[in-house]
Amino acid sequence: MTWEDRIAHYVKATGFPRSLFVSEDGRVVGTWIMGNNYRVKSTYYGGYPAGYLRRVRALFPDKKRVLHVFSGKVDLSAFPGDTVDLNESLNPTYVDDAQSLLRVPLPEYDLVLADPPYSVEDADHYQTTMVKRNVVMRALQRLPAGAHVVWLDQVLPMYRKDAFAQEGVIGMWKSTNHRFRGITIFRRRGPNE
Ligand SMILES: C[S@@+](CC[C@H](N)C(=O)[O-])C[C@H]1O[C@@H](n2cnc3c(N)ncnc32)[C@H](O)[C@@H]1O
Repeated sequence: MTWEDRIAHYVKATGFPRSLFVSEDGRVVGTWIMGNNYRVKSTYYGGYPAGYLRRVRALFPDKKRVLHVFSGKVDLSAFPGDTVDLNESLNPTYVDDAQSLLRVPLPEYDLVLADPPYSVEDADHYQTTMVKRNVVMRALQRLPAGAHVVWLDQVLPMYRKDAFAQEGVIGMWKSTNHRFRGITIFRRRGPNE
């Protein structure tokens, strides 16, 4: 699918306004204003705002195997897939450290959604140490060519430009007094790119 196709599908499937565009340099840019529909259904600290998963799913109707990394209490009814979290009590598919993902058969997945803690203070809430984002991105290099990574954060993670193409950036606004966040969309490059 081209990005024009993905955006057209997003508009049709969600009914939201066209707020994503392919810029002249070929990259997707845009803004999501979550409006009144921003509450976290599970009430889990740092959980995805309502509507986030529906939006991402609408961009990737072609994806067959989805992996939620830093999965927390992700709403799998909104976007089915397998899950990875360090916290065993959340019953993820894989209890694993996102910085290694050694238990996860990454070559089987074609889409990863990642939602790491954004700061040391956030990590304290989960009783984990702050992740090294570049190490997570290195582990994700075991994804197959063409797989996408949708990374929600306040920081652009360091990544190897020969391993990933940065295909899109989306700014996400919730309501007053919530932090802004950014979504970076990466595609795993093939060997001959
Ligand atoms: C921001 S929350 C994710 C919330 C999720 N998007 C949701 O909707 O519920 C971050 C999650 O990352 C997990 N986590 C923290 N460090 C981790 C690590 N190194 N590897 C895997 N999971 C980790 C925490 O246990 C927490 O559940």
